Amino acid sequence: MMVRGAKLVGLGSYVPDRVLTNADLEKMVDTTDEWIVSHTGMKERHIAAPEQATSDLALAAARRALDDAQMAPEELDLVICATVTPDYPFPSTASLIQAQLGATKAGAFDLFIGCTGFLYALSMASGQIMSGLCNNVLVIAAETLSRVVNWEDRATCVLFGDGAGAAVLSAGKPGHGFLSFALWSDGANGQYLSIPAGGSRRPISPQDLQEKANCLHMEGHEVFKLAVRGCPEVAEAAIQKAGLTNRDIDWAVMHQANKRIIDAAAKRLELPDSHVFCNVERYGNTSAASIPLALDDLYKAGELRNGQRLLLVAFGAGFSLAGSVLEWTK
Ligand code: ACO
Repeated sequence: MMVRGAKLVGLGSYVPDRVLTNADLEKMVDTTDEWIVSHTGMKERHIAAPEQATSDLALAAARRALDDAQMAPEELDLVICATVTPDYPFPSTASLIQAQLGATKAGAFDLFIGCTGFLYALSMASGQIMSGLCNNVLVIAAETLSRVVNWEDRATCVLFGDGAGAAVLSAGKPGHGFLSFALWSDGANGQYLSIPAGGSRRPISPQDLQEKANCLHMEGHEVFKLAVRGCPEVAEAAIQKAGLTNRDIDWAVMHQANKRIIDAAAKRLELPDSHVFCNVERYGNTSAASIPLALDDLYKAGELRNGQRLLLVAFGAGFSLAGSVLEWTK
């Protein structure tokens, strides 16, 4: 029998000041505002300043989430940072954040998976809390994708932005707060989205640098098809695990990778437009940070009420998929 639940008690986000618009991109690569808006829904994205690393963005979001939770850093038992753009291969970005926050009693580790990272990390945090191993966990998702994008490749560079979001989770009543998680991996389709060089398989060579093999490579159309098919499936699995039906969902917050993917998934799930949140036009695809950035926008807009059921859905590198149903209890 479940002894206790895990609930969200604090939210925060941060994006860097610099805004890169579609008009700016028109000057950098052979693209148009019309193409970007019609194919993705994006109008602008934020880009980290040269001196800003992922942990700087993460720290700002984490401080806001702790403020929102009215929790001191010393009360944290664990810090998890979901990122594929860490400050260094090691030490972990979570350890850097833990130190800067002064979370002196917390363990810390990075979760390296990609756009599903926030939901995977929430699941790990919930499990720690429900099992009684931790009482308070800080989950951060932060990315500086601008550092790994090939700025000469119009098919990918227009899609991504930088940002961070954070959530504080604490123990709550069983059967409330996080109601379900579905974490899926389709590793056989991992080749469509990768950074080919820079790992142990292919240490970076001068030729790799020339060929930009150390940058993000994506077969967009294949990812698009996997996402449109996979998102509704993993969403349905999460809804079923929560003992609910699609009609019980008050808000769907999906990975903000492309407005067309969000619309197609929502249509398959028969969710009305008014229940589907989208802010991709302002941030682009911020990978793991996109769901907490969207969640925080929705929260700050005053749209969330206690008892509402939120469906969170993500897809990304791996190929990985994740869904969760969260009862809003703040
Ligand atoms: N500007 C103008 N034309 C472009 C651009 C651009 N920025 N990029 C591509 N094109 C061209 C292509 O060259 C192609 O031209 P062609 O027909 O002459 O060959 C044409 O536009 C159509 O290209 P497609 O790739 O077929 O376009 P599509 O409709 O599939 O849209 C897109 C491309 C937006 C990338 C879409 O496939 C997509 O969103 N895929 C999913 C991407 C995604 O979600 N990735 C992230 C997942 S994981 C993560 O978040 C890290």
